[in-house]
Amino acid sequence: MLPTQIPDFFKNRRNNLMTKYPTSTFILPAAKEAVRNLDVIHSFRQESNFFYLCGLEEPDAFLVLAPSSQSSHKTILFVLPKDLEKEMWIGERYGVENAKKVFDADEVYPISEFDQKLPEFLKNSEQVFYRVGLNENLDRKIFAVLEKYQKNLGRSGKALLPILDPTLPIGEMRIFKNSEEISFMKRACEISTLAHKTAMKEIKPGMNEYEIEALLNYIFKKHGCQRLAYPSIVAGGKNAACLHYQMHNEPLKEGDLVLIDAAGEFNYYPSDITRTFPVGKHYSEKQSTMYDLVLKSQLAGIAMAKPKTKLADIHKHVCEILIDGFLSLGLLSGDPAEILKSGSYKKYYPHNTSHWLGMDVHDVGLYTLNGESRILEPGMTFTIEPGFYIQPNDTEALKLFPCQGIRIEDDILITQQGCEILSAEAPKTREDIEKLR
Ligand code: GLY
Ligand code: MN
Ligand code: MN
Repeated sequence: MLPTQIPDFFKNRRNNLMTKYPTSTFILPAAKEAVRNLDVIHSFRQESNFFYLCGLEEPDAFLVLAPSSQSSHKTILFVLPKDLEKEMWIGERYGVENAKKVFDADEVYPISEFDQKLPEFLKNSEQVFYRVGLNENLDRKIFAVLEKYQKNLGRSGKALLPILDPTLPIGEMRIFKNSEEISFMKRACEISTLAHKTAMKEIKPGMNEYEIEALLNYIFKKHGCQRLAYPSIVAGGKNAACLHYQMHNEPLKEGDLVLIDAAGEFNYYPSDITRTFPVGKHYSEKQSTMYDLVLKSQLAGIAMAKPKTKLADIHKHVCEILIDGFLSLGLLSGDPAEILKSGSYKKYYPHNTSHWLGMDVHDVGLYTLNGESRILEPGMTFTIEPGFYIQPNDTEALKLFPCQGIRIEDDILITQQGCEILSAEAPKTREDIEKLR
């Protein structure tokens, strides 16, 4: 059933954006349907910026925000027209009339009128925000309209309107989450935590990685996540040395660890949680050594998460702790500061500690401002996810540890006072995890 009402926050976001950019036209295309094979398509997920500003979940549409002489700006939607024959096959669409009511647009047209109508919405503009490079056909169409518009200006001396990337202005809005967005992320975290706890209880030696993937995906959906936040990773033993392992076709072995990096998306807001625990009942001595080092670095990173800290400083501190550990375990030798500077630790910790978390799991928003890592502010959400990996071709390290990967990942919200760990209920001390095993 199609929703007949959508929350006010979509319109509020458009107002906020256009208050900041009153002389700009934003052209935001919806996602296109992606072919899976021949005439089968992947399940649809709206493009994040389009959804953020509009709420419509249909492909091929355009959202145009344009300066207007009457009020500050106009919202214009171009949507798929009603087509009962097609809707019989693929489901109901809003069509022009309904879309105008439900999405509170000033003007709505069928997609077929996009080229012809667009020049009207450029009249009061000094620049166009449109993301170039994602779709060549669309780029050509937009460039052709802009060029024709410019030619029609005659001898005005005006040049082509500059085209800017909307990722920056919309990213700067999306990086700060308000109470509704935080409530969606909290729900995504609750459901994802439940999935991780269930996996911790249910995994037994001999089960296949794909069984656990299916179990996680079932729990995400059963409890209200519309889809996954990203493809689940269920990696037993050596498979966890591959950071984004996807094969999921091996049985889980007693004595191995299993790394699960999986989470659901609730109302377009994700969680992103990783836990690593024994397939059997207990961590072995070597596994405990590796695990405790990662946990120590993660807790130290989280302890720094508060307003005014920089993500780069959290990463640096996490790296320092891991490097100390790698040195004392005999995996590295030399001066810790030199190891940090040269990056030789990346053999065992090849990724970053954090990424912004939002509608895109690796979310938009600048990481640096004026050439410096930006400071954390209330409302920002991100992950802290250190890891420790022994690669299958690292013959020296394999003398000390088996090939495996450990990662511990939580979702952090910066508050006025410090931070809230949105995924705190997912067990992560060895003791708490072993209780569930
Ligand atoms: N799940 C992908 C990541 O942790 O970044
Ligand atoms: Mn992550
Ligand atoms: Mn993750």
